[in-house]
Amino acid sequence: MAEFVTVAKQDDVPVGQFKEVVVRGKPLLVCHTATGFYAVDNTCTHDDGPLGDGWLDGCAIECPRHGARFDVRTGEVLALPAAVPIRSYPVQIDGNEIKADLG
Ligand code: FES
Repeated sequence: MAEFVTVAKQDDVPVGQFKEVVVRGKPLLVCHTATGFYAVDNTCTHDDGPLGDGWLDGCAIECPRHGARFDVRTGEVLALPAAVPIRSYPVQIDGNEIKADLG
């Protein structure tokens, strides 16, 4: 059963930016794109690069280490060298709170 927990406040994540958080031991990126808020893992699947040290370009987060790109809406790989998607978590908005189902 889904259990949505607060991962950030809307006010803390302006559009076009992301925020690094750790919730229940999971390092996450909470991203705000033109299409809404998304929560994804903050670790690159290529070689564990810190995606939070990278940059958000539209809906793509780019890893600073070797340039892999992932779609933050789905976790899908957009550019090599990563071959495995990052995990993306369902998000709900509750007032000013951004909540994600980390189950
Ligand atoms: S660790 Fe992210 S592209 Fe290599």
